[in-house]
Amino acid sequence: MTIDATAARAVDPHAALPARPVDPARFTDEATYRHTRLPVELASTLIPDAYCAPEFFALEQERVFTTGWVAVGLAADVDRPGACVVVEVAGRSIIVTRNRGGRLRAFHNVCRHRATKLLSPGAREVGHRGRIRCPYHSWTYDTDGSCLGTPLFEGSDVPAGQEPVFDTSVAKGFDRADYGLLPVAVDTWGFFLFVNLAADPAPLATQLGDLPRRFTDHRLEEWVPQRRRTYDVAANYKLVGENFMEYYHLPWVHPELNKVSKFSDHYRWQGPGMYTGMSTTPVSRNTDAGGWDGLRPLSSLGAQDAESGRFVWLFPSTALVVLPNHAFVLLNQPVSANRTVETAVLLCHPESLDDPTAQDGLAQLEQFWDLVNRQDLEIVERVQEGIENPAYRGGRMCFRFEEPLHRFQNMVIDKMLGIDRIPAGDEETMTRMFPDP
Ligand code: FES
Ligand SMILES: [Fe+2]
Repeated sequence: MTIDATAARAVDPHAALPARPVDPARFTDEATYRHTRLPVELASTLIPDAYCAPEFFALEQERVFTTGWVAVGLAADVDRPGACVVVEVAGRSIIVTRNRGGRLRAFHNVCRHRATKLLSPGAREVGHRGRIRCPYHSWTYDTDGSCLGTPLFEGSDVPAGQEPVFDTSVAKGFDRADYGLLPVAVDTWGFFLFVNLAADPAPLATQLGDLPRRFTDHRLEEWVPQRRRTYDVAANYKLVGENFMEYYHLPWVHPELNKVSKFSDHYRWQGPGMYTGMSTTPVSRNTDAGGWDGLRPLSSLGAQDAESGRFVWLFPSTALVVLPNHAFVLLNQPVSANRTVETAVLLCHPESLDDPTAQDGLAQLEQFWDLVNRQDLEIVERVQEGIENPAYRGGRMCFRFEEPLHRFQNMVIDKMLGIDRIPAGDEETMTRMFPDP
């Protein structure tokens, strides 16, 4: 690809980008993003305020995180009636559980009486006999959200002989059927749990585009979490994502990973859908520094899947790496403009565990991914430090490697502007990043 240097200079943003301080009205104005809207060969990165201004963060939480599906956890954690996880999206605490019939349900974690948070963040079961009981005045809900009881209020649960004291005839105009938990849309794809805070959400399949088809042979819904770790990251969640999406930094940040994932074996792997994708094909064998071997590969994969590592960023905040024998996931929860809590999960198909050396393989993979992730987070935190310097106004994208960042940043911009658009993909399933030698 050639770039017209004159055209590139003509859109050099360094003198043209608006200066700080922050005016939140700018963040919903298309003109603010004009340098990132250019074709990738000419584009500059998203405005620095998108990574450090609390005003941008607050708007982004609403416009990005409450208007679409967000991966919040693993379906395996809610595998039976009454099991639950308590997750947070855009500052809202949400209970995800299964009802008595085994169907997924999600609710705002707030009592309909006087708003007490019902379950604590670490809760794994909704409560005694599959009921959610408010710790304040004991209003109780079932896993379908129905309000089952409002003690001493509408006549239920009044101790025998004390009826005159708790005369409930004055509870007028109250029907507990009107006070069920506030529902949230919930769905799964593969091993992920998703919620959507929108009032009238589009189907998850619309957002995922062709991804489920790309992963059909992996049967991700059968994979089981094996190891987890949490990382507290002093950086904006988008920097974590953008680092994940590009391969440019490998030789310098990941000398070990670079040995099993060669530059020349990289492809863009992007169809229509709210995601960015990259593939390493073929993945290389382990070296002394570790690698991706160590577990038995899934037997059902086609020829290309059986030798590929797929690297997908699920908009807005989740990394998914799928190798023939394991998966590595990063669920990123934005906490503030410059802080993200990241849950890393290593998963595999039960078939891959059917081997006496499987536990050693898992231990080695966990160690390898922890090393790679720490290398990533260290550099991402340095980017955060740099991007907070007002002297920096945005930089040019490297067209060869950073097209996925451009795609992602334009998805963010669309959401900030209220544009509902699913990006189209490449015509080919795999698009080489480097021309054939
Ligand atoms: S706030 Fe929950 S029962 Fe009163
Ligand atoms: Fe990296």
